[in-house]
Amino acid sequence: MLFEPLKIRDVSLRNRIVVSPMCQYSAKDGHVGDWHLVHLGKFAQGGAGAVFVEATAVERRGRITHGDTGIWDDAHIQGLQRIASFVKSQGAVPAIQLAHAGRKASMARPWYGNGPLTPEDSTRGDKPWSTVAPTERSLGEGWITPRAMREGDQQTVLTAFKEAARRAHAAGFEMLEIHAAHGYLLHSFLSPISNDGSAEERMRFPLQVIEAVRQAWKKPLFVRVSSIDDVDGGWQLEDTIAFAKKLKQIGVDVIDCSSGGILGSATAATKTLIPRVPGFQVPFAESIKQAAGIRTMAVGLILTPQQAEEVANKVDLVAVAREALFDPNWPLHAAQALGADPEFARWPVQYGWWLTRRESLLRKLGVRK
Ligand SMILES: Cc1cc2nc3c(=O)[nH]c(=O)nc-3n(C[C@H](O)[C@H](O)[C@H](O)COP(=O)(O)O)c2cc1C
Repeated sequence: MLFEPLKIRDVSLRNRIVVSPMCQYSAKDGHVGDWHLVHLGKFAQGGAGAVFVEATAVERRGRITHGDTGIWDDAHIQGLQRIASFVKSQGAVPAIQLAHAGRKASMARPWYGNGPLTPEDSTRGDKPWSTVAPTERSLGEGWITPRAMREGDQQTVLTAFKEAARRAHAAGFEMLEIHAAHGYLLHSFLSPISNDGSAEERMRFPLQVIEAVRQAWKKPLFVRVSSIDDVDGGWQLEDTIAFAKKLKQIGVDVIDCSSGGILGSATAATKTLIPRVPGFQVPFAESIKQAAGIRTMAVGLILTPQQAEEVANKVDLVAVAREALFDPNWPLHAAQALGADPEFARWPVQYGWWLTRRESLLRKLGVRK
């Protein structure tokens, strides 16, 4: 199943493996560079069905760190175009995640502490900036107090998302994901931890943004959600299911089912109620698929080909992040492990031609069975 192609709208994926968006904290004023091209290019060469560019800010103030990639200016298109074009040339679908960090903007890069920007960061040139959020509630002690967004601010952000979708199209991307997870702006609207009002009221602005993007973007549209906040009194799976039903009505194609992040990092070792074990978020993707009748993608500690195959039998797409950092050729290796590529036919010809011949030699020598 993992190597069954999948068609979403007019876009065909060669398999069900997606490289999840991963911030590299290495952009300059939002511009991608050679690092991003090689980083993402490797995954396309490595056989993934689709490769996502990291959380890319729709507004300058919506960056998590100074090193985030951006798409708030037409000048960002050219660099992104190089990536989309190379990824596509390697047979993978080029995809990009659009994001606004909200109250989690103005942070230090992970290797400088992953917290609020400090005077030490300022000496490196990374000065703090002011942030916006649904309410003035900050992420926690020591964090910047955001300014509560008014109607006009909401219109500005909505337009920024729409404009970003236009630029993503101009750059040649074929799939788009809206980041509504991990405590960033749209998630902070959804969650009762960071916003007031009924669930219906909290969903209103994220739905408006997603609907506006849906109208501007005709190709496959994903929305990443935190299926649960994973803190007491937070957003629950039932809320996500209700939200997913509305997203389906709007015309969203896939729900990317992550979790957490409303009060801290979604990936670093923060205290969680749900134990972080292999595949811990897969049940969310399964439930949301069944209850909302929409395609879902699972992510989170999916490590082995056999595990991924099992996941692919339950949901539509399987996303890998850190495992792809560990082994950029993970999809090609998974294909071999599952018997889906005995002849290196899925490898780039520049590598496969040599590897088939080496394999025959190794068999003759008895090194391989
Ligand atoms: C270096 C790094 C950067 C990340 N950046 C993003 C991001 O830009 N957007 C996002 O939605 N998730 C981001 N994540 C989360 C991953 O997409 C993924 O959901 C998470 O790492 C769990 O999958 P894994 O166990 O396969 O790593 C990031 C994770 C890592 C390790």
